[in-house]
Amino acid sequence: MVTEFIFLGLSNSQELQIFLFVFFFVFYVGIMCGNLLIVITVASDSHLHSPMYFLLANLSLIDLCLSSVTAPKMIADFFSKRKVISFKGCLAQIFLLHFFGGSELVILIAMAFDRYVAICNPLRYTTVMCGNVCVGLVTAAWGTGFLHSVSQLAFAVTLPFCGPNEVDSFYCDLPRVIKLACTDTYRLDIMVIANSGVLTVCSFVFLIISYAIILVTIQQRPSDKSSKALSTLTAHITVVLLFFGPCILIYAWPFPIKSLDKFLAVFYSVVTPLLNPIIYTLRNKDMKTAMKRLRKWNVNSREKS
Ligand SMILES: *[C@@H]1O[C@H](CO)[C@@H](O)[C@H](O)[C@H]1NC(C)=O
Repeated sequence: MVTEFIFLGLSNSQELQIFLFVFFFVFYVGIMCGNLLIVITVASDSHLHSPMYFLLANLSLIDLCLSSVTAPKMIADFFSKRKVISFKGCLAQIFLLHFFGGSELVILIAMAFDRYVAICNPLRYTTVMCGNVCVGLVTAAWGTGFLHSVSQLAFAVTLPFCGPNEVDSFYCDLPRVIKLACTDTYRLDIMVIANSGVLTVCSFVFLIISYAIILVTIQQRPSDKSSKALSTLTAHITVVLLFFGPCILIYAWPFPIKSLDKFLAVFYSVVTPLLNPIIYTLRNKDMKTAMKRLRKWNVNSREKS
């Protein structure tokens, strides 16, 4: 019976551990601050109370949760000789990873839908993207994440583990954990590809087509109006590529590339969630003005008190 799993981690070298610790610690603090800043800015500034920014704030919240599933444990593990996680902890990681990942995927689709209506059907924007629809989309995101995660985990909990318990990574995820089971896992591998893999590939194709349609629509407009829309869209598309790229390679690529695997996992858990706030906050004018207002308001209220 296996009661715990052991992570082999990113590297064995002692000097490298310290470097990696500092690197990931800084990244994780950046993820926390950056994404919290977006959530707070959107919540506190009435200029940003629109579906696009609500969805963006939700995306940031999910990013924050998503990287908190793996990063803190990984950072703490840099200094422990045996990087152990309990069986239940491992299942929890898998569950939360797919829960937040699935939700993020639907939020990204909702953001594309929002832009599609705003750009291709601007006259109907306020009626289509009313408050209820927005709340509905967010609820659908969490619901989909939950269903997806439960459907994946339902198979994993019944797997027999009888000895091998070394996970060659720094967190638990299905493709790696399934490999350790003492049974023929061929059908399970197919199941992961059919669920996570198909979900990511289909959503990705759908999103790329949607953004292509939006871009074509923008091209037909006078250029002064289209430049702002274009910069928003570039941010969206960059985030989509960064999120789905690693996802597709991890879940849908049938021939795992061993050396690339860990790198993708790092990318997925600490790089993408950090780039999100950078892309949106540094490039988005409305966001930047809102942050300036927030700072001014802060300074003013401090002077008064
Ligand atoms: C997420 O979206 C919903 C619906 O628009 C909104 O009410 C909520 O404030 C958003 N959450 C965050 C953290 O901004």
